[in-house]
Amino acid sequence: MSLLFESIDFEENPLYESIISDLALRKYSIVDHFFNDEEVVLLRDALLKTYEDDKFKKAAIGNRLNENVVKSIRGDLIFWMDETNAHTNEKLFFNKVNDFIGYLNKTCFLGILQKEFHYAIYPKGTFYRKHLDTFQNDDRRKLSLVCYLNEDGWQPEYGGELVLYLKEADKIIYPTPGKVVIFESQVIEHEVKPVQVERLSITGWLKTR
Ligand code: OGA
Ligand code: MN
Repeated sequence: MSLLFESIDFEENPLYESIISDLALRKYSIVDHFFNDEEVVLLRDALLKTYEDDKFKKAAIGNRLNENVVKSIRGDLIFWMDETNAHTNEKLFFNKVNDFIGYLNKTCFLGILQKEFHYAIYPKGTFYRKHLDTFQNDDRRKLSLVCYLNEDGWQPEYGGELVLYLKEADKIIYPTPGKVVIFESQVIEHEVKPVQVERLSITGWLKTR
């Protein structure tokens, strides 16, 4: 393996390798400090600045449903990020994600050619009911990636856990700062439990075609 890779200017990345083997083994991976404390501060600042500029909108789930139905399914506010106009702090996010995608495409033949990311704020009392990250008539989303931007010291009683529904025991994940969760979009049903404290994140998808 490494002989071949060395000969074509490829450096093995242990973190990425562990994510890839997690995904192969159980279809999800959790990295506690994908972003370090300083990076989280910069990304949180960028999110909050965008929020102060009044750019967030109530998240939707398809155009057939009225606002009350949507509210009973998800209550987060989102803003779609624009990589081409990303400012410095956001570039830090995209640089790291693009590096990972480059590695995936060199090693896994997933053919990730597109991506989309949004900031998300879950105000107190909101949640996102159990769902799959796929749309009807569109199977381009392959991997979901969530990155938490909360302050240090997130407490279990704040709620807002991400629950992955697995065949074995369900996996409960606390949204601690810098943590990144990656999972197979078309396979893993999941839910965001009601939050007692505002919950901040970036969520997105790595897509084919
Ligand atoms: C989503 C989602 C999970 C999370 O936005 O589709 O499932 O932990 N987010 O925020
Ligand atoms: Mn989801």
